[in-house]
Amino acid sequence: MTMAENSVFLPVAVAYDRWSRGYDAYDNPMVAAARHVLGVACAGLAVGTVVEFGCGTGRNLAALKAAGAGELIGCDLSEGMLEQARARDASFRLFKADMAAQLPIESGIADLVLFCLALEHVGDLVPPLREARRLMRSGGRVVIIEIHPFLSSGGVAAHFRDGEDVVHMPTFAHRFSDYLAALAAAGLALPACREWYAGDFGVSASAKMLKRGPDSPLVVEFVVGAG
Ligand SMILES: C[S@@+](CC[C@H](N)C(=O)[O-])C[C@H]1O[C@@H](n2cnc3c(N)ncnc32)[C@H](O)[C@@H]1O
Repeated sequence: MTMAENSVFLPVAVAYDRWSRGYDAYDNPMVAAARHVLGVACAGLAVGTVVEFGCGTGRNLAALKAAGAGELIGCDLSEGMLEQARARDASFRLFKADMAAQLPIESGIADLVLFCLALEHVGDLVPPLREARRLMRSGGRVVIIEIHPFLSSGGVAAHFRDGEDVVHMPTFAHRFSDYLAALAAAGLALPACREWYAGDFGVSASAKMLKRGPDSPLVVEFVVGAG
């Protein structure tokens, strides 16, 4: 017997407030893929200060702290997600803020600026990338780990089940050319780009990651320096 399904569409912050308590325990193939990619992308990067845009429950900040990062800064639209991040680690410096706006932080402090599964909620990539460029220290990096453009163009987007409700929210399918144009407009360099397909995760691939087969795309990773 299948559960009755009720599709609801909520504003981003309201949707994530509702998702916040269960987010970290949710079996989400994109989150699992992004966790793996972050570990690979940041291995060997000497990271002092991190700023994550759309930091959610702070799971990435915690992983980067465990990997040796010193100061962990995050911003998010959703108070519920920020509450989880605060509860996870009181030392995180957190802002309830839209990543398209300027954060009240001095320029050039970040060794690493991270976007992870957050840019799909932003229509115009230029303002957050420009802010990332402002915050990035000379010699620093911007790391972007997002849903693969082939998947998002095919209609795959953030959503979750909550009881009988399947909750959807505003999302935007960004193409590779959108990322390249926005990075250039924000004064960031041509990125190193790696596409991650389900088969690339080896034994780390969960059943949900392999749902569309090993040759299906999951996430894209860009590692970017100053332009
Ligand atoms: C899929 S979650 C990812 C959270 C975290 N980066 C991770 O990898 O677990 C997307 C997050 O982006 C936040 N978000 C979406 N649009 C935002 C915006 N314009 N400014 C700040 N945060 C935003 C949401 O509230 C949510 O917490």
